[in-house]
Amino acid sequence: MATFKVSSLPDVGGFADGNGAALAWDILKRTGSHSVPEVIDLTECPHLKPYAVACLCSLGAKGRLEGREVDLVMPSDNACRDHLCRLMVPVWFRCGGYSEETLRDTNLPVEQVNWPPGQAATRIIDMLAPQAALAPGVSPRMKESLDEIIVNALTHAESPIDCFVAGQSYPKTGKVEVAVLDLGQTIRVHLSKNPLHSRVRSDEEAILLAVQDGVTGTPPGQQNRRGFANSGAGLAFVREFCEGGSGELTVLSGDSWVTFRQGLAPVKGKIFGPRFQGCLVNVRFFTGYPLPKASTEPIL
Ligand SMILES: Nc1ncnc2c1ncn2[C@@H]1O[C@H](COP(=O)(O)OP(=O)(O)OP(=O)(O)O)[C@@H](O)[C@H]1O
Ligand SMILES: [Mg+2]
Repeated sequence: MATFKVSSLPDVGGFADGNGAALAWDILKRTGSHSVPEVIDLTECPHLKPYAVACLCSLGAKGRLEGREVDLVMPSDNACRDHLCRLMVPVWFRCGGYSEETLRDTNLPVEQVNWPPGQAATRIIDMLAPQAALAPGVSPRMKESLDEIIVNALTHAESPIDCFVAGQSYPKTGKVEVAVLDLGQTIRVHLSKNPLHSRVRSDEEAILLAVQDGVTGTPPGQQNRRGFANSGAGLAFVREFCEGGSGELTVLSGDSWVTFRQGLAPVKGKIFGPRFQGCLVNVRFFTGYPLPKASTEPIL
């Protein structure tokens, strides 16, 4: 039986010099190659960040699209298990002892968001922001940022699972983290459909272009698949908001990831192993200052 045992250790392919590698890059890699196991074994997992939770659920959802239920073995660590229950992760799997009924009390589920997204971004930030005591003035721009990212995933990606949104608040450090994941065609492939950007040579170049104002993969004069025009303003707005001091934006697609934040040149890295077939956008919003050092606190 194909069991995917999630490692308790950060593996290679980490952030910056590799030392700050976060947990669960193995989940990321498996998700990016769309290879759905029969069993996901989280026994040794001490913690899962929002991006890893989104990836995990997308594997469950992809399995269902293929006509099967993926088995999930929950972590032996109590805190991690409780956290996954609050997020209602087990409902995407066959997972002994957990049903939609038993998990119903949660107000913080990981969400599969479909078109049209409606007020999903507002609802999610309204849930997360108060727990981290974020300044009320920040929330509207957070909501707008999250909405832009979700709309991009549902408009440009053509992802079989639409998109998954997972979030977490960190009350002690005054931080909210949200991840939006799709398993679609990647930024580079969409962007190069616009003749103005057809020569984009790499995934990294595509990500760096996509966050610039006025850059869109929708060809001039045309509408996107949802019937709207695009001006290429969405990701630029998110980047400017983050670089304005309140946050940090990481975009991962194809074989590359890039992180943007105030006062730093974009930090870039490559994914070890197969390309990530899709797009993962991770945003951390802070109230606390100064920001943690990029080299000591892993982003993903
Ligand atoms: N999830 C995604 N999947 C594939 N491509 C994406 C994704 N997100 C962004 N892109 C690419 O990045 C480009 C820039 O995104 P951005 O949000 O800045 O502009 P836009 O969506 O084209 O226009 P606007 O946001 O102003 O409506 C997109 O046009 C698309 O080519
Ligand atoms: Mg957009």
